[in-house]
Amino acid sequence: MEVSIYKDHDTLSSHAAGEIIGMVARKPDAVLCLATGDTPRLTYSLVVQQATARKVDFTRCTFIGLDEWVGISPENEGSCHYFLRHHIFAPLQIAPHQIHLFNALSGDLAGECGLMNRVVKQRGGIDLMLVGIGMNGHIGFNEPGVAPDQYAHVVTLDEGTRTVGQKYFREQTVLTEGITLGLKHVLEAEKVLLLANGVKKAEVVRRALEEEVTTALPASIIRKHANSRVMLDEPAASALTRGETKSR
Ligand code: PGA
Repeated sequence: MEVSIYKDHDTLSSHAAGEIIGMVARKPDAVLCLATGDTPRLTYSLVVQQATARKVDFTRCTFIGLDEWVGISPENEGSCHYFLRHHIFAPLQIAPHQIHLFNALSGDLAGECGLMNRVVKQRGGIDLMLVGIGMNGHIGFNEPGVAPDQYAHVVTLDEGTRTVGQKYFREQTVLTEGITLGLKHVLEAEKVLLLANGVKKAEVVRRALEEEVTTALPASIIRKHANSRVMLDEPAASALTRGETKSR
């Protein structure tokens, strides 16, 4: 694991965008799994800008969904579907056959998990996974206490995730379950980027990077991944007590 600290969210986002563009330029048929949320929003808008400016071809990539709120329609602005469509798929003109997202309205969510596991396997695994970290240390909807050896699964959301998740929705929304790739997918991805910005993430970032590796704080497992990079802005890194990382 490598930790990179950038002076602000703009700089962090521009480097994260560079990682995505670089991956697709090197490997045009890359399998990408890109998280939703406030953290990577700017990264994706820079990806769109850079892809257009540098004429990077995304037509052979595959996009794998990280997670989704169970029972929430793709038409709901707070859904992960909507976010990805709006910020990435529509602007980059990604074709439907390139996109594999969880159908969180399905009556057979276990079947959805099995399908996603098969798609990831058939594509030869995920080349680049970009994730955020929740206030409770989750990655995707891998909530504290998750089994480390799980692939896609359905989860009862933590109280904190239900509350924090309201920020994505226009109206108060009942959020009880999530469907998510598992920590096994994270550990098996070729490369993982974990992004965090803002002082409100400082303490959870410190715990993930400096306390024990435990599924009680799922993001800490990133330290077990040899090709992972934690990308922080200075406020998110401000609680770190070990000075081995340098600001860029
Ligand atoms: P955020 O979400 O980027 O909106 O802070 C992160 C997460 O919950 O994984």
